[in-house]
Amino acid sequence: TDVSWIRNFSIIAHIDHGKSTLADRLLELTGTIGKGSHEAQMLDRLQVERERGITVKAQTATLVYNYQGIDYLLNLIDTPGHVDFSFEVSRSLAACQGVILLVDANQGVQAQTVANFFLAFSKNLTILPVMNKIDLKNADPESVGTQMKNIFEFEPKDILRISAKTGLNVESVLQSIVERIPPPKHCDITKPFRALLFDSWYDRYRGVIAVIAVIDGVIRSGDSISAKHTGKSYEIKDLGILRPNEVSLPCIQAGQVGYVVCNMRSSTEAKIGDTLFKKGLANVEEVASFRQSKPMVFAGVYPMDQSETPALRSALEKLTLNDSSVTVAKESSAALGQGWRLGFLGLLHMEVFNQRLEQEYGAEVIVTVPSVISILFKICWSLTNIRLHGEKNIKKYGATDIIVNNPAFFPDPSIIEQYFEPMVLGTIITPDIYMGPIMSLALDRRGIQVDSKNVDNSRVMMQFRFPLNEIAVDFYDALKSLSSGYASFDYEEDGFEESDIVKLHIMLNGEVVEELSTVVHTSKARKYGKEICLRLQETIPRQMFQVAIQAAVGGKVVARENVAALRKDVTAKCYGGDISRRMKLLKRQAEGKKRMKSIANIELPRDTFIKVLKR
Ligand code: GTP
Repeated sequence: TDVSWIRNFSIIAHIDHGKSTLADRLLELTGTIGKGSHEAQMLDRLQVERERGITVKAQTATLVYNYQGIDYLLNLIDTPGHVDFSFEVSRSLAACQGVILLVDANQGVQAQTVANFFLAFSKNLTILPVMNKIDLKNADPESVGTQMKNIFEFEPKDILRISAKTGLNVESVLQSIVERIPPPKHCDITKPFRALLFDSWYDRYRGVIAVIAVIDGVIRSGDSISAKHTGKSYEIKDLGILRPNEVSLPCIQAGQVGYVVCNMRSSTEAKIGDTLFKKGLANVEEVASFRQSKPMVFAGVYPMDQSETPALRSALEKLTLNDSSVTVAKESSAALGQGWRLGFLGLLHMEVFNQRLEQEYGAEVIVTVPSVISILFKICWSLTNIRLHGEKNIKKYGATDIIVNNPAFFPDPSIIEQYFEPMVLGTIITPDIYMGPIMSLALDRRGIQVDSKNVDNSRVMMQFRFPLNEIAVDFYDALKSLSSGYASFDYEEDGFEESDIVKLHIMLNGEVVEELSTVVHTSKARKYGKEICLRLQETIPRQMFQVAIQAAVGGKVVARENVAALRKDVTAKCYGGDISRRMKLLKRQAEGKKRMKSIANIELPRDTFIKVLKR
């Protein structure tokens, strides 16, 4: 009944600084998994995570550590390691009292280290600074120590120096967790059951498995519970702790972290950040203020062939069971037929999702404009009958602020009073020799510098306010390539700002292709229009007739390219000779055509959109 032997903590780090390796080592040292267990990096379970070497879905484990004769329960709450998933990081931190801030002794403090630090700092968590990879021959612990002092005000003597790979000093991390991180606060075992739900996943056989941090009381199998946010009630079928696989127990109690299986049907029911409590309890206080994740990047997803629609639907259903931060809405397109509009937390999130869609379900899909993000408008009262957000009538919204997540539904400019676009605060850390080019890149992306600071004597931290629109697609790639991979980047949301935005139409032979339309800043319309036209010119195969490619804003054409006509007769070479060869060639041509989509009577290869839209 005593929580003083419990510690709940997370490891936060920049991508690749060794978070998963350290987690594995902690599991080994405490005998949770066998030494040198083949299943390297136990906590990274998804195939896509293994392939990309990044954590997408957080996993949690309870370790038992004997320190000075007392068995402590250490709950390691794993967090994903990328900008797009800061929502998941933040909900995981709500279950912790402390974090290990892990920094690579060779790469030093990176943008994500800074973002994660402030996330933990603002939540009043105890932060243990740890320098990893000190076994590397080009490790530079002195200068990394200086960086950590300059930016976070850690005293170099307080920073643990370890190698998660060799195991050097890792024991000291466990000791520090016990000594320096406080036990769970405000827990009361005598009160009725109350817990924070901070993660969930979908198990094919058992349904939703929810991970909870128990704040008050005790919970047993058979108990009835309710969820504050959804208002639904459930009966507990099984519960226990994660080591890191599920170990069933008769009960878990205040201060502990564990899993529960109840009759939740999908992970959308398991709202991350929701408070679970003993059924029937009145006026339950929420453990953490509940916040829904907000998708920022949208894209249409269509099957290659309409006959594959049911297969794609079921693939999407299964994947979203495990990732409730993806939003799904039906949509249809003249050229592509019936499909779905998906909302993602960011671009990497979208890539990972698409990769999983292909890998786990073998579904072939067409993905449309990935750059589209929510844009907020104020609209005049006059016109009402336009389609916004896939809805038929704007009246429903009271004609005030509207969020448009699809350029196809961008309203007629004559009815718009003001445009707003989402902003982010971006942090860049870079060797100072790249400052000039990065400054130009940032200005080109409409960035406004808000801060600049030396990290040590050769590196700087720059902060800019950017429109999300400008960094959503390829900013990170551009930054990496102009800094030879040395600059790091992270961002956080920073409200909305009034802006001058227009819809850029793309037309093929005079017909608007909604799937290629985008929303851009006025100053970028001509340049971006030209780029898309040139790219389409490269991508569209020659047809029997000339193809005119135009970009237009309102009624005005801002760019134009042509694809010259060509008569393509694959059998011309055969001089009417061998009939079977002729048939074979025609058949091959027909197969090629199947892989095309016909738009405005023009045959487009299925990857046209992707090729054109990757800037
Ligand atoms: P994300 O899950 O994407 O956030 O990455 P991560 O922080 O979990 O990094 P991970 O543990 O996957 O380690 C990244 C790479 O660094 C791997 O190749 C590890 O083998 C290596 N690595 C981790 N710790 C050490 C260390 O102490 N020394 C050395 N030399 N390499 C290490």
